[in-house]
Amino acid sequence: METLPPKVLTNARLATMADPVAGRGAVVMGGETVLWAGAESALPTDFSAAETQDMGGRLITPALIDCHTHIVHGGHRAREFEMRLEGASYEEVARAGGGIVSTVTATRAASEDELLAQALPRMDALIAEGATTIEVKSGYGLDIDTELSMLRVARRLGDARPVRVRTSFLGAHAVPKGQGADAYLDDVCIPALRAAHAQGLVDAVDGFCEGIAFSPDQIARVFDVAVELGLPVKLHAEQLSHLGGTALAARYGALSADHVEYATDDDARALAASGTVAVLLPGAFYSIRETQQPPVAAFRAHGVPMALASDCNPGSSPLTSLLLTMNMACTFFRLTPDEALRGVTVHAARALGLTDCGVIAPGKRADLAVWNVETPAELAYRIGFNPLHQRIFGGRTC
Ligand code: NIG
Ligand code: FE
Repeated sequence: METLPPKVLTNARLATMADPVAGRGAVVMGGETVLWAGAESALPTDFSAAETQDMGGRLITPALIDCHTHIVHGGHRAREFEMRLEGASYEEVARAGGGIVSTVTATRAASEDELLAQALPRMDALIAEGATTIEVKSGYGLDIDTELSMLRVARRLGDARPVRVRTSFLGAHAVPKGQGADAYLDDVCIPALRAAHAQGLVDAVDGFCEGIAFSPDQIARVFDVAVELGLPVKLHAEQLSHLGGTALAARYGALSADHVEYATDDDARALAASGTVAVLLPGAFYSIRETQQPPVAAFRAHGVPMALASDCNPGSSPLTSLLLTMNMACTFFRLTPDEALRGVTVHAARALGLTDCGVIAPGKRADLAVWNVETPAELAYRIGFNPLHQRIFGGRTC
């Protein structure tokens, strides 16, 4: 790929997620990287010969990052949606043989090409709203071959579209029918993790710590293997009950603890001490009609970074919009619009262990979103409207 010459985006409003820029702002991109960002009046003269693009006063933010998705999966679970409307809870549906294990059946039945074809429209919906980095989990295979297939499909998604895909191995997502949890971990999950890592398919290791999934001790066994392999960990924790997953995640220095509705003040303190991001998933909160609020005030008080993600999955969060995710986080959890934007940019990057994106600053990737809005609050405020004007991935508009 040929190197791009420097380009200056002028007459923009900037929400860099780094230093505040008041008034007309400018961003200089050189190749895949941001060279400079700030007030247009302070634009260094070195760039006066460069090509410019007048942004017409539009808002430029870092491109969006979805740091928690299950976008690769077979089939759908619209019937469970109906069951929940008839009064069944998410846990009841899962215990009745629906839930994650029903998607496992559909995922095992699909070829890799079919999984790719089903995932692409979901990914395209995220991309259409300015996402350039998307995390994708395994966890609907629960056998060695299908876990590896899911991760291969995730990598193929990153080749099929101008987007960065980060993979998380989620073998410890559910216990397959007819198996004991410990035997499953020993015979399937841990061997699958080792095989997937050996094939370069894993960027992080995730788990589901819950009564309907795995205990903290069982998750710890998977995390020990992650540590041995040099892989960072993250965890679905405290989604439906308080089981101690958040404290476990903190003990392992996890990148993130996700859901965390039932986390406590002590959990927030532990996350702050370990530098772990709390990933809030309002789409799941909404879809399963959860009423327990994540402890946002404690996260703020202890300085825990809060990220937001779609949790796109066929059961608890069939959501493919980060803008709606932002709106839900503000309305349900009372995040400020500024916190919501940080949640899908700088803090989402951190939840993935990425330091080269999520902010607009010299040396960072030129992954930018240009919006037909005047203020960041407008992004979180509208419902079902996409004001994206231009998406820039590594300095290229696409
Ligand atoms: O993040 N909590 C566990 N995993 C998913 C749900 C997956 C499913 O219902 O298929 C989640 O909400
Ligand atoms: Fe999830």
